[in-house]
Amino acid sequence: MALRTKKLTPHIGVEVMDIDLATRPDDATVREIYDLWLDNVMVVFRGQSLDQEQLLQVTRYFGTPGGNARPREYRTSGQHDMLPGIMLISNIRANGEPIGALPDGDMMFHHDMIHADIPDKATCLYAVEIPSEGGNTLFASGYAAYETLDSELRDSLEGRRAFHHYNYGSQHRGDDIGTPAFSESEHPVFRTHPETGRKAIYVDRLITASIVGMEEGESESVLTRLFDHSEKDEFVYEHVWRKGDLLLWDNRCSMHARRDFPSTERRLLWRTTVSSEDRPA
Ligand code: SIN
Repeated sequence: MALRTKKLTPHIGVEVMDIDLATRPDDATVREIYDLWLDNVMVVFRGQSLDQEQLLQVTRYFGTPGGNARPREYRTSGQHDMLPGIMLISNIRANGEPIGALPDGDMMFHHDMIHADIPDKATCLYAVEIPSEGGNTLFASGYAAYETLDSELRDSLEGRRAFHHYNYGSQHRGDDIGTPAFSESEHPVFRTHPETGRKAIYVDRLITASIVGMEEGESESVLTRLFDHSEKDEFVYEHVWRKGDLLLWDNRCSMHARRDFPSTERRLLWRTTVSSEDRPA
C-alpha cells in the first residue's frame, strides 16, 4: 500500500494521512511507515482514537517500548491507572500534585534521554487533552544543523565528546544547578545515526553541560554557538496540537522544545518510548 503523505518542512516532519492506527496495518505498511520516519525524522498522524494498548501497539512498529530508565513516579501514574510503558505528560493536578511529568510552561530544546548511557531511540506522544492555545512542540533536525554548521567549528569538534546532566522536572538550563543529577552521560558532540549513516549534532540547551576536556569559558561559548545554530527556524517544524494527534520522532537525530501555554487550561498527553541497544557513536 502506498501511503498518502505530506512533507511538513524541507528538513523535518511528514504527515501520514488517511490511516487509522487502531488496527495494525500489514507488515509492508508498517515498514513503509518506519522508512518514512527514518527519512523525515518525525511523523505525524492526525485524528487517531487509541486506547493504551493500541498506543503500545503502534510504538512496537518501531521496536521495543522502553521506559525503565527514569524515576518510578514518572513511569506511570497510579492516579490514572496507566499500563507500564506509558508515561503521562500533564499539568493536571490531583490533591495539588501534578499527575504527570513536565507539567507547566515552556521547555528548552532537548534530546530525550541524552543523559542516559543508551538513550531511547524514539519517543511517541499522543494528545488526549489540549489547551485552546499554546503548548506547541517544536522539532529540530540535527542532520540539517550538522550539514550546515560552519566548517571550521565542525572540524574543530569532530571526535570530541559532551557531558550531559539532568534531573527530572528541569525544563530550563540551570534549573538543577547544585543538585545531584538523576543521570549523567558522555556522548559524541556529533552522532552518526546507526541506521541512516548520517551525522547529526547531538548536544542541546537543556541537558548538555559542557564539552569534555575544554576550558569552561570556551566550552560555554562553543555550546552557545551550537545551540543557536541548531535551533534556527529553518531546521524546525512547529506542531500545533489537536486532540487525537500522534507524533513519533527519532531522538538520535532531532531535538524538541515546547512553547508556554495557559496554566488555567488542561494539557494531557500519553508518552511512550522505543528503547535502543546502540550506544551513541
Ligand atoms: C517532552 O519534551 O517530552 C514533552 C513535550 C511536550 O509536552 O510537548
